[in-house]
Amino acid sequence: MPAGESFYITTPIYYPSDVPHIGHGYTTVAVDTLARWHRQSGDDTWMLTGTDEHGQKMLRAAAANNVTPQEWVDRLVGEAWFPLLDTLDVANDDFIRTTQQRHEERVQQFVQAIYDHGHIYAGEYEALYCVGCEEFKPDSEIVDGTGPFEGLKVCLIHSKPLELLQEKNYFFKLSEFQDRLLELYREQPDFVRPESARNEVVSFVRQGLKDLSISRSAFDWGIKVPWDDSHVIYVWVDALLNYVTAVGYGTDPEEFARRWPAHHVVGKDILRFHAVIWPAMLMAAGVDVPKSVFAHGWLLVGGEKMSKSKLTGIAPSEIIDVFGSDAYRFYFLSAISFGHDGSFSWEDLASRYQAELANGFGNLASRTTAMIQKYFDGVVPAAGEYTDADLTIQSHVAAAGKQADAAMEQFRIDDAIEAIWVIVDDLNGYITENEPWALAREESQRERLATVLYTCAESLRALSVLLSPVMPKATTTLWTALGAEDALGALTAQPIRDAGRWGQLPVGTKVHTLAPLFPRVESTA
Ligand code: ME8
Ligand code: MG
Repeated sequence: MPAGESFYITTPIYYPSDVPHIGHGYTTVAVDTLARWHRQSGDDTWMLTGTDEHGQKMLRAAAANNVTPQEWVDRLVGEAWFPLLDTLDVANDDFIRTTQQRHEERVQQFVQAIYDHGHIYAGEYEALYCVGCEEFKPDSEIVDGTGPFEGLKVCLIHSKPLELLQEKNYFFKLSEFQDRLLELYREQPDFVRPESARNEVVSFVRQGLKDLSISRSAFDWGIKVPWDDSHVIYVWVDALLNYVTAVGYGTDPEEFARRWPAHHVVGKDILRFHAVIWPAMLMAAGVDVPKSVFAHGWLLVGGEKMSKSKLTGIAPSEIIDVFGSDAYRFYFLSAISFGHDGSFSWEDLASRYQAELANGFGNLASRTTAMIQKYFDGVVPAAGEYTDADLTIQSHVAAAGKQADAAMEQFRIDDAIEAIWVIVDDLNGYITENEPWALAREESQRERLATVLYTCAESLRALSVLLSPVMPKATTTLWTALGAEDALGALTAQPIRDAGRWGQLPVGTKVHTLAPLFPRVESTA
């Protein structure tokens, strides 16, 4: 992607019916990392996240707590969802709440537009609804209940009983968009990623689409249907529209043209809404479809999709209080192949923290800065003649930068980290082989020692830049300790696509003391 292009990326907007868990945190840090990567590449980047505040789920959560739905969402968003972004160290550009006026008015405008275009009609409906999903379930996701729900139909995702709803509803003629959707998936093969998600969507749409109920009249916690105020707009239609209302749809044509279309990153549980219903809604309104929809896998705990409703939820702060936000980000983004399911365990987290962060990256940083202080009075020395081993490091640094960029371009965050980590492993091996402490004992090896330590420091310079979207805090600390802040300016101002170019850290740069980047943690087991 040429620099300067628009890169607009979104997380799902989460239900603040309850507090966040590590699944929400996973999507959010993935999107933040992709946004930081593009921002640091000079792309015109915009990251949006937010909360989905209407619907029956919210109404019930509020009722269960004896407050109004507005009080409930205000409390949860203020006390749990805003603070989550700080906890995760996320640099979002905007946060949208679907109860904001900027959203509600534009949703009505959009729905009115597709009504005027003849894509909406009134009808009768009777079907099984899952409040957890906020969805009338397709047959493929309706299963027989077991245990306390024996004899009932339950949701495949939530394992909770479905409710039979019978209402007069307004319907969106989704069925009319089958051919155009299939054409979209054909013409834009990257529209749905990864491949497994694309296949699932294509085969779902090939089977034929039913029209979609887009209003509810049994309760009023939602945005009113503009031509019939006895109905509120179906919460998913309301929610999906956040992606356009947040960037000026209907109010600021210039901003809208600058940002839209977006890349959407979602969990695979809500793939169909994003890859089928959403583009069809946009087609009906004559608005461009998204650039892409990337569906990642589920975090599994004890083999099941982790969720609050199944009481397997873990709060991000439980992990971050012990390991820190960088380790949280690094762990989920590197240990799980983006697009596939991954199992979370405390043991795995603790062992990767120790091996990869503390002993791998952290130790490399400490050793290098300490040796420059000890052997060169804290001043980055000039390299002498490079040997083949030094040149190999240089070419690996250059290759890592290129490979990481190519992987990030494909949203393969784990592959990008793996490519960058080659530098960490190489450099630790290089130090072991070159034994700078032995070189330091012989005056005749002074120049060789300088070359080895310059090679380490310059590689750490590249590593700081390449890892800064993943671990903003640790890399900033390292950047300052390397003296790079004074010599080269702010870390986030370093063009990431140029990170692999050798020789940027100036000779004579003053290195400072570095406290361990990843200190020992007390056992949590
Ligand atoms: O669906 N593993 O909100 P939601 C990985 N409001 N990711 C997980 C996860 C898990 N176990 N659990 C949740 C909604 N997530 C709607 C979205 S968008 C227009 C409206 C993440 O609070 C993942 O991103 O149920 C999933 O898609 C999202 O949280 C669902 O959040
Ligand atoms: Mg959910």
